[in-house]
Amino acid sequence: MRRAVCPGSFDPIHNGHLEVIARAAGLFDEVIVAVSTNYSKTYRFTLAERLEMVRSTFSAISGVLIEPMGEGLLSDYCHDRGASAIVKGLRSSSDFDYELPMATMNRQLSGVETVFLPGESRYLHLSSTLIKEVHQLGGDVSDFVPRAVLRNLNSGAASPERAPGH
Ligand code: PNS
Repeated sequence: MRRAVCPGSFDPIHNGHLEVIARAAGLFDEVIVAVSTNYSKTYRFTLAERLEMVRSTFSAISGVLIEPMGEGLLSDYCHDRGASAIVKGLRSSSDFDYELPMATMNRQLSGVETVFLPGESRYLHLSSTLIKEVHQLGGDVSDFVPRAVLRNLNSGAASPERAPGH
């Protein structure tokens, strides 16, 4: 059983994430989408909301599990779940520069490899931050996010002022 982990905040998940995770599911027997909580970050959506949006997005795709990652090391999380790889999408050389030290560190900490998938060209401009800004200022983000995310963004249920992780 070849298992991979796709980690991220997913605040919220967007079509660029979706596409990379779907491709990872084609490469591995099982993919765990690990939704992280970093207490130095302020999230727009609660962990429960982020998990629910990811779950709705992947409900029809087999071999994809969704769970919270907790607050610990990603390398420990991968080791505990018997995952041999972390899969990350790359949009640019600056993504690579940011990811390379973490990939090396994670391999040294627990032997887990990081597999980089080049992002699909039509999604290279997407980031959760940019999507939230465009939506907040009245722009149409329906081409960039799954339906469950659009529903949540439009409902205005979540607040950017909310405390991290809540
Ligand atoms: O979507 P994000 O916020 O960029 O995801 C970042 C994530 C979850 C990949 C990163 O925060 C992470 O690896 N967190 C776990 C903490 C950890 O292992 N730190 C050491 C990295 S070498």
